[in-house]
Amino acid sequence: MKYLIANWKSTKDINTALSWVNTFNKSINKNKVLQKKLDENYLKIIICPSFHLLYPIKQNIYKNKNIVLGAQNVSFFDQGNYTGEISAQNIKDLVEYSIIGHSERRKYLKEKDNEIDQKAMLLKDYDIEPILCVRNEKDLIPDKINFIAYEPVFAIGTGENQALRDVINVKNKISLNKDNVFIYGGSVNSKNIIQYLQSNEIGGFLVGNVSKDPTSFIEIATKI
Ligand code: PGA
Repeated sequence: MKYLIANWKSTKDINTALSWVNTFNKSINKNKVLQKKLDENYLKIIICPSFHLLYPIKQNIYKNKNIVLGAQNVSFFDQGNYTGEISAQNIKDLVEYSIIGHSERRKYLKEKDNEIDQKAMLLKDYDIEPILCVRNEKDLIPDKINFIAYEPVFAIGTGENQALRDVINVKNKISLNKDNVFIYGGSVNSKNIIQYLQSNEIGGFLVGNVSKDPTSFIEIATKI
């Protein structure tokens, strides 16, 4: 199984999100090969929009066991009186996954390792699978994390993806167990994905910019 994750970041309102879904659904509807990959558990697509879009997307997205939703973040508080926070309990019926520790949050929101740990624990409590983003081999990996998305900062949103051999170099320095899914993120597109697909070291892709356009995103999916 390869994982293809769309990270829309803080873009899209209801209209632009539903229009994305519409184009995405049409493309899948007419692509039998892609349907087969999904049906045969060869590919899983995880769409991570902002919180306000989770419900309308869940209602409208093409129905398939391997097209699911993820959050981009979650509160480090459990449910309770934390005005403005979105807890794992809030989203447990909408998402199967949640990204945590994205480098943009570490940078702009000054997110700390202990907060990221706490988020991972709460997600597990509500049966949501954390996808932990790490910037390099030095970022701490809490216990029981299955999905690790390695995203070198220089490659995020710059169009400069990291070469496969360098990605594997970093992978080898991270202590992973055999069940961990190692995901690469950083300027992935439908052309540069080919090199990563030649190696079975990479279990999936976290795609930012290119995922914001449904046609380009589907084009990536067709390469997997
Ligand atoms: P990018 O973003 O594909 O635009 O580099 C990846 C990410 O930030 O998750």
